Amino acid sequence: MFLTDCIEQIAGRFTAAGIHCGHGVDNIYDETVYLVFGALELDFQRSIAQQNRELAPNEIARLERLALARVEQRIPAAYLLERAWFAGYEFYCDPRALIPRSPMAELIGNRFETLMDSEPGTVLDLCCGGGCIGIACALAFPGCRVELADISAEALALARKNIALHKLESRVATRQSDLFADLDGRYDLILANPPYVSQTEIEQLPPEYRHEPRLGLHGGGVHGTNIAARLLSEVTGRLNPNGLLILETGHSAKALQARFPTTPFLWLDFENGGQGVCAVSTEQLGKSY
Ligand SMILES: C[S@@+](CC[C@H](N)C(=O)[O-])C[C@H]1O[C@@H](n2cnc3c(N)ncnc32)[C@H](O)[C@@H]1O
Repeated sequence: MFLTDCIEQIAGRFTAAGIHCGHGVDNIYDETVYLVFGALELDFQRSIAQQNRELAPNEIARLERLALARVEQRIPAAYLLERAWFAGYEFYCDPRALIPRSPMAELIGNRFETLMDSEPGTVLDLCCGGGCIGIACALAFPGCRVELADISAEALALARKNIALHKLESRVATRQSDLFADLDGRYDLILANPPYVSQTEIEQLPPEYRHEPRLGLHGGGVHGTNIAARLLSEVTGRLNPNGLLILETGHSAKALQARFPTTPFLWLDFENGGQGVCAVSTEQLGKSY
């Protein structure tokens, strides 16, 4: 079987099975290409036509196993491949942490243009999971030091694997902490993607999301805003003067704004899709309490 035929056949099976694509890919064809290219270690920068060839029996057998797990167990492609791409960089990815998909990738790609006047010297990626946000930031700003913090020891073990993958041990460190409780630094930039899904929403999520750690999804409270609200209450004093907090709260953005009516959150627009991410400066946080 040729590569092109194999992609068409698997995409057809995925469509018939009604799999859900929501982990950084929004359609079945792209999900299929991601799985096939990843499994065969093809070059994502080159087209299918350029790499079209007859597949070896062992390659077909591997793709068959992966396609079956995708359809029958609804395991997302990134977990099957144990690899994900974020902000143009490759990361190890497994069920110890959520699959990277934050719209913050676009902000990092733009080096936070219009949001920051100078490069950050110290960055905290709070609720870091596998560390994609903080590590991408360290790669974008070669002069900065980054802390990756999470309450989950398992997520931090994956984050350390990713630090090693990008050879960033000298500038990026991990910290186990319940939000700021075990952190003692002050930062120029805090990037936080805490859990923000409500209990009701979690129960309605497609089966693919059940493979992700619940700790990374459930934000607590009726609207899923408890962890983000606690983070906002504790952030004062953790940012340097002229510092910036960028906080992702997804669908719970409105509910969070209602809990902090006087905080002038700047809700950001994204060209590549995504919503519910706000920026708020040290000075604005100081005035709003
Ligand atoms: C939405 S995931 C984000 C992961 C990663 N930043 C990303 O964008 O892919 C949220 C993360 O917050 C962590 N977390 C949950 N409660 C926490 C808390 N109280 N303190 C610190 N981290 C927490 C979870 O373990 C999970 O890794």
